[in-house]
Amino acid sequence: LKEVIPMNEITNFQSRAEEFFPIDWYKGMLENHPVYFHEGTNTWNVFKFEHCKQVLSNYEYFSSQGPRTTIFVGANDKQENTSPIMNLTLLDPPDHRKGRSLLAAAFTPRSLKNWEPRIQQIAAQLVDEIEENSVVNIVETLAAPLPGLVIADLFGVPVQDQHQFKKWVDILFQPYDKERLEDIELAKQNAAREYFHYLYPIVVQKRSNLEDDIISDLIRAEVDGERFSDEEIVQTTMLLLGAGVETTSHAIANTFYSLLYDDESLFGELKRNVELVPNAVEEMLRYRFHMSRRDRTVKQDNDLLGVPLKKGDVVIAWMSACNMDEAMFDDPFSLNIHRPTNKKHLTFGNGPHFCLGAPLARLEMKIALEAFLQKFSRIEPVEGFDLENSLTASATGQSLTNLPMKVYR
Ligand code: HEM
Repeated sequence: LKEVIPMNEITNFQSRAEEFFPIDWYKGMLENHPVYFHEGTNTWNVFKFEHCKQVLSNYEYFSSQGPRTTIFVGANDKQENTSPIMNLTLLDPPDHRKGRSLLAAAFTPRSLKNWEPRIQQIAAQLVDEIEENSVVNIVETLAAPLPGLVIADLFGVPVQDQHQFKKWVDILFQPYDKERLEDIELAKQNAAREYFHYLYPIVVQKRSNLEDDIISDLIRAEVDGERFSDEEIVQTTMLLLGAGVETTSHAIANTFYSLLYDDESLFGELKRNVELVPNAVEEMLRYRFHMSRRDRTVKQDNDLLGVPLKKGDVVIAWMSACNMDEAMFDDPFSLNIHRPTNKKHLTFGNGPHFCLGAPLARLEMKIALEAFLQKFSRIEPVEGFDLENSLTASATGQSLTNLPMKVYR
């Protein structure tokens, strides 16, 4: 098990709200300490776009293998780490290639085309249940449920079980809370066992009855004569849940936050010009997705970042900060859905580990927004909204649990 680096010692944020939108901190680091050694955690930290890109993609010098990590997804790694596929994110090329290619079989452009109407249907159903001219918590009604329901559907989990499926997902990926460590660990172990017992027979059954879903794609996938075993497929679905559910919920929730609090004219503009939605999605990923950051371990001595790095040093790439580097984005601290370079953000990483689910995450964000815009003509913040108490610590930083807004047809 990797040692988790206590990131809050580096940032020293004073409130949840500051961590939720730490752009003042980013600004300070970009200006004054673009390459920063933090003694307490014994880490190098880089904030500039080119440096982050280098650290993420140059695997000859910066390895994904190493004893320490910045992320704490909280899935019960002890048992699951037995399979090479679960180590995908921890391997460098060439070892990384096979697992990555096998998994990529489920994320082809063709799959994406097939998924679009299914995602639209799920989003439309959720939006349909939102009462007009009322106050809704958009996290609870749309942002939180959508990615879990979508992935259950794309896996090919029978509709009647999707509710139970989501319950397991919620338990498996709930953040650890210091006061209830043991309870949570136990609940996670139980959920993992139940999940495995539920999904395994589904995989076995699909093997003789292939359909149009992710599990079937994973069964079909073959690289250099190798295929996934049934057990590996169950483990792979866990990897996808861990990587793809909470992150996408977070991105959708923050998009609505931005529409309410960053620029109140934006909702109307998108309503009149839905074709701008994909641009808006990119700008939200650049401007409103925080704490995208990854660690690498120095593989051989180098000075690629302008400082002497020694083998074994840990370097943290702060992608959300580098998304605000002036060298890449003009006027980086303002939200602008029309910026020509907004797709260049590094929120999904860069290089061999570039997020495999990026096209799916983008599609879900786009569809969620489109479905909402189709039904509603106006949204308004609710007076007295208390941001600090509407946030909770999660693997993706501070996440909204509550975002009330007035919605008008
Ligand atoms: C990898 C971010 C959604 C599956 C990554 C990485 C980042 C990232 C930064 C690179 C890790 C590294 O370089 O070490 C995000 C964000 C998302 C999102 C911000 C949503 C807004 C998804 C979804 C899925 C997914 C929906 C699939 C269902 C994966 C997988 C990897 C990955 C499998 C590992 C790829 C590899 O190591 O080769 N993601 N992700 N992600 N992501 Fe995502």
